[in-house]
Amino acid sequence: MESIDAVRADLLALIEDAESLDAVEQLRIEELGKKGRITGLMRGLASLPAEERRAQGAALNVLKDEIVAALDRRRTRLEDEALDRRLVTERVDITLPPRPESAGFIHPISQTIDEVVAIFGEMGFAVAEGPDIEDDWHNFTALNIPPEHPARQEMDTFYLPGERDGHRVVLRTHTSPVQIRTMVASPPPLRIIAPGRTYRCDSDATHSPMFHQVEGLIVDEATHMGHLKGCLIDFLRAYFAVDELPVRFRPSYFPFTEPSAEVDIGCTRSAGKLEIGHGSDWLEILGCGMVNPKVLAACGIDAGRYQGFAFGMGLERITMLKYGIPDLRTFFESDLRWLRHYGFAALAIPSLVRGE
Ligand code: DAH
Repeated sequence: MESIDAVRADLLALIEDAESLDAVEQLRIEELGKKGRITGLMRGLASLPAEERRAQGAALNVLKDEIVAALDRRRTRLEDEALDRRLVTERVDITLPPRPESAGFIHPISQTIDEVVAIFGEMGFAVAEGPDIEDDWHNFTALNIPPEHPARQEMDTFYLPGERDGHRVVLRTHTSPVQIRTMVASPPPLRIIAPGRTYRCDSDATHSPMFHQVEGLIVDEATHMGHLKGCLIDFLRAYFAVDELPVRFRPSYFPFTEPSAEVDIGCTRSAGKLEIGHGSDWLEILGCGMVNPKVLAACGIDAGRYQGFAFGMGLERITMLKYGIPDLRTFFESDLRWLRHYGFAALAIPSLVRGE
């Protein structure tokens, strides 16, 4: 039988040579387990005379404790060394210059949506949304644009394959279907604006197949044409930040409003330059009118009791006018140099009412 001293010397040397935590664990399993040498020696005790067995047994227990302690020490040592190595390699060099940060910019259309929402928000309008993929009942029929109506052709509609609830599927040609969805979903009084994307099959210097509009709708028992005028005059003066901005209402026609009007703002055109806010020229900016009773009825609203007004406006146009952006197409070219020039700092407080 191997002597206890020989086993001790051998095991301590093995432990000292173990170079990894795995190796230490392996040794523990092998040497202290059932097949280990210490266990073997303990098994051999049975054949010894009683006197010797007691002495050898005690010595073996001491050996076992020593080996357990040696394994623990080795493990702690290896862990400490690993930590030291990490601390050295992961040291942060605080003398390095910082990496340049590039801040993002708010797209001018997003900025305009924020401003429009803020101004109408102060007038008590909530923001409503509808899907870009509409059906022709919401986009046309309920808005008093029947199938044979020329407006369906005028709007250069993108039709999609298939049907929804028996209706043709379209990319919405305006934000007006959100009026319909709002009136179908909730009873009056209603006061919403709906900014969003709209689509028409048209592409040139002043038309993009995807563009943005904001719709507005009020329905209650008392709102009349005077409120419509006051509301839009206030909005335009706040948005363009011109207190005395001339605003003109010109009779017009939309199937979903009666009477209808187009709204112009005062401007000056000279030497190819356009200036908003003064002068004797006019620039068309939006369409509006009193909600046609047929539209109220299509949405299940009692047109004898309720009335209201609606309006719709292109967002690219008012953004170009306010911020001097000359070309519509640049909005959607994703040119970072353009965005850095015309974009807005993300953390700046948007210029809200009257440019404050
Ligand atoms: N939907 C119209 C368009 O896209 C704009 C419009 C005009 C909306 C008059 C309205 C409105 O709500 O009353 O040309």
